[in-house]
Amino acid sequence: MAFPRPFPALMLLFVTVVGTLGVSVAQRPPNILFILADDLGWNDVGYHNPTMKTPNIDRLAEEGVKLNSYYMPSICTPSRSVFLTGRYEIRYGLQHGVLGHYQRRCLSLEEVTVAEKLRERGYATHLVGKWHLGFYKDGCLPRQRGFDSFFGFYLGAEDYFNHDSTMQGHHGYDFRRNEDDVSRQYLGQYSTNLFADEARNIIRNHNPAQPLFLTLSFQAVHMPLQVPKQYSDIYNGVFGKNEDWKIYAGMLTSMDEAVGNVTRALRESPMWDNSIIIFSTDNGADAKFIGSNWPLRGAKATLFEGGVRGVGFVNSPLLHPEVRGGMTNGLIHMSDWFPTFMHLAGGLPTLDKPLDGFNQWDTISRGMASPRHEILHTIDSQALRPVDRGREKWSTNPYFDVFTLAAIRVGDWKLLTGPAGNDSWIPSPESGYEVINLKKLYGKVVRLYNIPNDPYEHDDRADEYPEVVEALLKRLGEFSQQTVKPNYPGVIDVIYGNPDLHNGVWAPWG
Ligand SMILES: *[C@@H]1O[C@H](CO)[C@@H](O)[C@H](O)[C@H]1NC(C)=O
Ligand SMILES: *[C@@H]1O[C@H](CO)[C@@H](O)[C@H](O)[C@H]1NC(C)=O
Repeated sequence: MAFPRPFPALMLLFVTVVGTLGVSVAQRPPNILFILADDLGWNDVGYHNPTMKTPNIDRLAEEGVKLNSYYMPSICTPSRSVFLTGRYEIRYGLQHGVLGHYQRRCLSLEEVTVAEKLRERGYATHLVGKWHLGFYKDGCLPRQRGFDSFFGFYLGAEDYFNHDSTMQGHHGYDFRRNEDDVSRQYLGQYSTNLFADEARNIIRNHNPAQPLFLTLSFQAVHMPLQVPKQYSDIYNGVFGKNEDWKIYAGMLTSMDEAVGNVTRALRESPMWDNSIIIFSTDNGADAKFIGSNWPLRGAKATLFEGGVRGVGFVNSPLLHPEVRGGMTNGLIHMSDWFPTFMHLAGGLPTLDKPLDGFNQWDTISRGMASPRHEILHTIDSQALRPVDRGREKWSTNPYFDVFTLAAIRVGDWKLLTGPAGNDSWIPSPESGYEVINLKKLYGKVVRLYNIPNDPYEHDDRADEYPEVVEALLKRLGEFSQQTVKPNYPGVIDVIYGNPDLHNGVWAPWG
């Protein structure tokens, strides 16, 4: 599939960038393959946990640069919006919850996406896989948000083979090429294979004269637990009779095979010498389900490291040889890809709204210090508030309402406020460890950790360092001034959003 579009004259001029030794090198905008895994936990890749068979991911990571302090929102919708906008989710109301089937909301149409900006620079832009940024009206759909083509599904989760889901008693299909071609011919085929084949075809058919931006957003390894049996069978000897874990691990291995297929197509193409592969999860593994963030604390939908510190790496011939095979500990956040990609595409354009991201190309490709010293993990004023509020001594501070769910990292320190969610350490079964549930400290909602010294968040230092707590509460207070109200309609459109009105398909109705 080629999507010809006018090639801006500017693109024909080679952009000059300053190379490693201060030497000018002519550099065309690189091809970017961004691979996003869904709910993949810290402990779910072979290079963190040898039980998991992910040889392709491991090899790409070992030959590239691992992002060891890589952060993102703790759930799907905000993680994807932060990736596309380079801006924190609090700025456009996506900080609360994930997008539901009947909700009249989507990524604010006032936000600019990195796909739009790369397209302006002459890139072909494709999205393969999960969207989850809204579909209630046409303007919300991927091709209205900067992508030339879309092949995948709009919702957050569905059946991997039948590509359907049921909500409030209504059942609908959700799988298509672009908007109108609801591709029923894929019924029965596993989504990981379909997305890999599509991405591979895009790469093989691409005109190398035009730069490529391909986002491959897997359904795997989000619930439900489904995989062709050949993959779960690989784990028969490992997880014994634990069928759920066998399936989960099989989903991982099948996604790894897909990553191998797609990256091999890129590496074998004439584009490879000017290409960048980024592999990223969207948030931590889900504790209610399966998957492991061990030894990190917490899980998806919590602001502990298990929810917000994710697996990621970059592999590219454009990395300086000395950084290959290593890792960076520099703070990197999901919002950093926007300015990083724009830098690679010839420079950051003038934008109406400020970005929260930083250009991390020198951090990743040359081992320089990260320009980032702070991460707002989130502020969600609509999250449930702790029940017992009696004994929190910070409750009267003038800066920030500590019963609100929030977390911020400044330098080495991380402050969490509000409800903890699942704050356990949750191992995978083969490790032989038990889930570690802490006795609840009722009334305690402010927690402070020194992350480089205590990456697993064992030692709350809030009582020892009140001046740090105060400084971080002040900073949260400043961010809460910049926060817009969560766009999370309580009333849902079960009537008009009902797939029965749209030929049995989840489709725009607004
Ligand atoms: C990878 O490619 C091989 C060969 O084309 C194919 O048999 C296999 O199903 C592909 N795997 C996935 C997960 O797409
Ligand atoms: C967290 O999730 C794990 C796994 O589902 C469970 O065993 C544990 O009891 C949960 N802990 C809390 C505090 O909710």
